[in-house]
Amino acid sequence: MKSRIATTALAAVLVAVAVSQQVSRAAAAARLDPEMLPQHLTETGLYAADDPAVVASGVRQFLPQYPLWSDGMTKRRWVRLPKGASIDATAELAWDFPVGTKFWKEFSLNGRRIETRISWKVSPTRWLMASYAWNEDGTDATLAPPEGVPGVVEIAPGRRHSIPSRSDCTACHGSERTGPLGFNALQLSNDRDPNAIHGEALSPGMVTLSDLIDQDVLAPAPTHFVADPPRIRTPNPATRSVLGYFVSNCMMCHNGGSDGTPLGPSLSIRDLLEDADMAARTLIDRASAWQVPGTNDVHSVVVQPGRPESSALFVRLRSRAPSSQMPPLGTVIRDQQAVDAIGRWISNLSR
Ligand code: HEC
Ligand code: HEC
Repeated sequence: MKSRIATTALAAVLVAVAVSQQVSRAAAAARLDPEMLPQHLTETGLYAADDPAVVASGVRQFLPQYPLWSDGMTKRRWVRLPKGASIDATAELAWDFPVGTKFWKEFSLNGRRIETRISWKVSPTRWLMASYAWNEDGTDATLAPPEGVPGVVEIAPGRRHSIPSRSDCTACHGSERTGPLGFNALQLSNDRDPNAIHGEALSPGMVTLSDLIDQDVLAPAPTHFVADPPRIRTPNPATRSVLGYFVSNCMMCHNGGSDGTPLGPSLSIRDLLEDADMAARTLIDRASAWQVPGTNDVHSVVVQPGRPESSALFVRLRSRAPSSQMPPLGTVIRDQQAVDAIGRWISNLSR
């Protein structure tokens, strides 16, 4: 009997602990819940309070030199840092942003805005990611549900663009701890690649690496980047632009896996800045876990010099069959310009 009471008491304690854990988890979730995001894009701080047609002061536009292919949609990107705050640049290639930093990326098709994505640093270890879907007449954008919005607009006959789910955001952006992908020393470098695939020219006012250094936004300031801005280091312009394409279209997943998952081809920005030709050589003749269709007799490799058709990397880049395409999400139309450039690059490679 005694032990029965003890057991019941213990059970009660356990229940109490469980309830209090649930309560504190619920409280934490409420504090950080994505649903706490404002319902309207106009309430996120992107636009001036008195004029939603104008970007707010303190919000700055930027343009990564190597963009992500999103089926040819036009993009604009902005950042807002908390007033007076600086970016911790102790790790030169992995900046740590102050809590409160916000990034936005707007997607348009034929002049019509489709969605505006936001990533917002809400705690030292968490970026909140979500998208706002624009209405037909482009007057307002409202918070998209966590599961995204499939097929919001037709981007080519029979092909539709979808607003990604929040788990798709993190599939590319890494865990919720990871910072931005297009706002770093290489992407903002003043030594911009003139051959970047889908590269665009900077407009006046767009933030560059030297602006951030001059304005004391980076601490400590990587002053050596003023005289020697980061670039993908190779004497071969084609290698530079092809590896730059990989930075924004492949390496957010194929980077050696901070979580330890090997995903076949793997490159790091640091290696590209040191010796891009050596980094590129790691792809050559590397056995692929993915068999190129129609090549059952030989084991497939990631890149076979001179033979794009036999290179898993090329065949998957060119494919838009959901089971084989690379990247696996965020695009439904092949990037022909990249296919041409990368096909040529592989054709000209030698061992
Ligand atoms: C297919 C991979 C992919 C998916 C899916 C994706 N992103 Fe990104 N995103 C990128 C890359 C790469 C960049 C940087 C290059 C560029 O902007 O062209 C970027 C840039 C951004 C930026 C500008 C700041 C930065 O990181 O450079 C925001 C904001 C953003 N994404 C939000 C989102 C949100 C929110 C989602 C989900 C609704 C999402 N992204 C889904 C790959 C992806
Ligand atoms: C959102 C994450 C993501 C992005 C971005 C991405 N991949 Fe992958 N990739 C994967 C995953 C996961 C696998 C393993 C599963 C599979 O083979 O489908 C993979 C597998 C591969 C493989 C076969 C693996 C092997 O052993 O050789 C190749 C080749 C490849 N990717 C190339 C690319 C290229 C080229 C790009 C850019 C154009 C790219 N990937 C972009 C996630 C990604």
